[in-house]
Amino acid sequence: MSNNDTFYITTPIYYPSDNLHIGHAYTTVAADTLARYHRFRGKDVWFLTGSDEHGQKIERKAKEMGMEPLAYVDKIVANFKHLWDSLHISYDDFIRTSEDRHKQVVQEIFTKIYNKGDIYKSTYEGLYCTPCETFWTDRQLEEKKCPDCDREVELLQEESYFFKMSKYQDRLLQYIEDNPDFIQPVSRRNEMVSFIKSGLDDLCVSRTTFDWGIPVPIENNHVIYVWFDALTNYISALGYGSGDPKYDKYWPCDVHLVGKDIVRFHTIIWPIILMAAEMELPKKVFGHGWLLLDQGKMSKSKGNVVDPLQLIDKYGVDAVRYFLLRDMPFGQDGYYSEEALAMRINTDLANDFGNLLSRTTAMINKFAQGVIPEPGAEEPLDTELKEVKAQAVAEFEDIMEKLELNNALAAVWKLINRSNKYIDETMPWALAKDEAKRDRLNTVLYNLAESLRIATVMITPFMPSLPEKVWQQLGIVEHTNAHNFNSIYQWGGLPVGVAINRGEPVFPRIDLAALREEASADKEEKQQQQDSKKKEKAKKKPEPPAEIGIDDFFKVQFKIAEVLECEKVPKADRLLKLTLDVAGEKKTVVSGIAEHYGPDEMVGKKVVWVANLKPAKLRGIESQGMILAASDDEGNLEVLSLKQDLPSGSLVK
Ligand code: MSP
Repeated sequence: MSNNDTFYITTPIYYPSDNLHIGHAYTTVAADTLARYHRFRGKDVWFLTGSDEHGQKIERKAKEMGMEPLAYVDKIVANFKHLWDSLHISYDDFIRTSEDRHKQVVQEIFTKIYNKGDIYKSTYEGLYCTPCETFWTDRQLEEKKCPDCDREVELLQEESYFFKMSKYQDRLLQYIEDNPDFIQPVSRRNEMVSFIKSGLDDLCVSRTTFDWGIPVPIENNHVIYVWFDALTNYISALGYGSGDPKYDKYWPCDVHLVGKDIVRFHTIIWPIILMAAEMELPKKVFGHGWLLLDQGKMSKSKGNVVDPLQLIDKYGVDAVRYFLLRDMPFGQDGYYSEEALAMRINTDLANDFGNLLSRTTAMINKFAQGVIPEPGAEEPLDTELKEVKAQAVAEFEDIMEKLELNNALAAVWKLINRSNKYIDETMPWALAKDEAKRDRLNTVLYNLAESLRIATVMITPFMPSLPEKVWQQLGIVEHTNAHNFNSIYQWGGLPVGVAINRGEPVFPRIDLAALREEASADKEEKQQQQDSKKKEKAKKKPEPPAEIGIDDFFKVQFKIAEVLECEKVPKADRLLKLTLDVAGEKKTVVSGIAEHYGPDEMVGKKVVWVANLKPAKLRGIESQGMILAASDDEGNLEVLSLKQDLPSGSLVK
């Protein structure tokens, strides 16, 4: 069993159906920061990430590309790994669900639960969302569409294996109540509790509609439901059942870090799988918020996904990581824009941090011959600076335990900002003018460099490549004791007498005006592309409809109708409401012809009316059938009407 000296943290395993975007990077950067932090504090950390490779969606995508599913995902998984390297993600293991070590464990767990009687066979009929690989009940759908992705669902019926989730409902509720930290933040716990209380259905855990998955051990033409398969990665990667000591050492997991959309799978299905398999439950599932754009969600189909690799190239990995973790309150949604990123770089990194480093090293060069001076007697301002440091450290440690990464950075910035203020208050340039104040000057310069050192140690897990540059400039690359987390408790860990090497700014400022210009040029270009796509689409003639027989044609009844009254539909530019006379009967029709005909032009016309069309509500008006009109590619339109005065009600054949 894992103990307090170990720390096991996981990210979700990502779908290799496409390359990853900045939203995915967010989860992994956060997990990496926590893993680095706990390692830094001396814990034995295991940090797992990976890829969730099975399922119908991947099978279909591979087919579209004319590839085998494994060959298709191999390429994308290689891209995942490249991205994680570029983001300096320090994972200890990368699990792929297509690996044998994983498949064996999934089958073993499935068999164990089946033998116990908690998995049974029955017939399933349900509404399935293929992109989300999820069955939904009728009441879960929103406007008949998948509540997660808003796409059409399809009705599937199949012989399936079911998992007795309902049996564990009360035990799970009890567990959540007894372990208030299990689901975080609290708002997500409340959501899950009410979901469970509304009643858990048994879960269909096998499929026969596709092959790309792990076969059900008892019946090989079924594959195991992707979420049952995917969730098990958290123990298969530890070598569960193989005698690997990692399992005993790290399980139960300290934190499953996941996005809010998949909290349900991790806090309901996964714990119940573990309960049924008689295993311990994870200590914590933390559901963070989503990174959104002004226009809403990022999506490939909207063409608005943000590629983290491009940002790293442009701004550097530390700045991208900093922005992700600083800008969004961890647990809540936040907005991404390149301008917000650039502003964070300019304000927090270039101004606050960068200036502290550059002013401190410049003054040590100028006033202390480029060597860290020995501090003298302490004055009240120094005491205050040290107190701010002590508070920042205490706050930081406390907040890191709560996983509030953005607030942890804010705590470090209290020290950085206080140090910048300390420069203005102590005015080293004035002290330098008076030889009698040399001791005081040395104390101030030392304190500044020390404060910078401590802040840098604290932000090491967030921006892993920054410290090396700072140690270089402070001349303490070799003094590794001054880089340790433990060195931040005591003031004075910075060695005296070492020569510094003032260097280039660690965070160059971004030209916001140029960035805005670039953004507006990009926007214009995108608009032009969209317009020309629209034109292309409009040019394309629709496919002619399939041939029909005369019987089909006669299913539609056309009659002559006379327009008695006509008026505009309020707040609808394109609609007219017509009152028709059909052999003495009055009918109401709403027609989209208002851009072509005024109401007066229509009154008195004898038009062709579709008599047996099911009524439909348009703008709250029941339209009984429709009238016919012809239109061309240029958008000209003419309502079909009679030249000869045949009576209304006459049949059109
Ligand atoms: N394969 C499943 C997870 C199985 S874990 C046993 C999956 N994969 S995913 O690739 O679609 O998403 C992985 C993670 O990325 C999720 O935690 C999801 O919340 C996160 N994000 C996807 N888009 C995101 C944002 N725009 N912002 C923040 N996180 C986002 O779900």
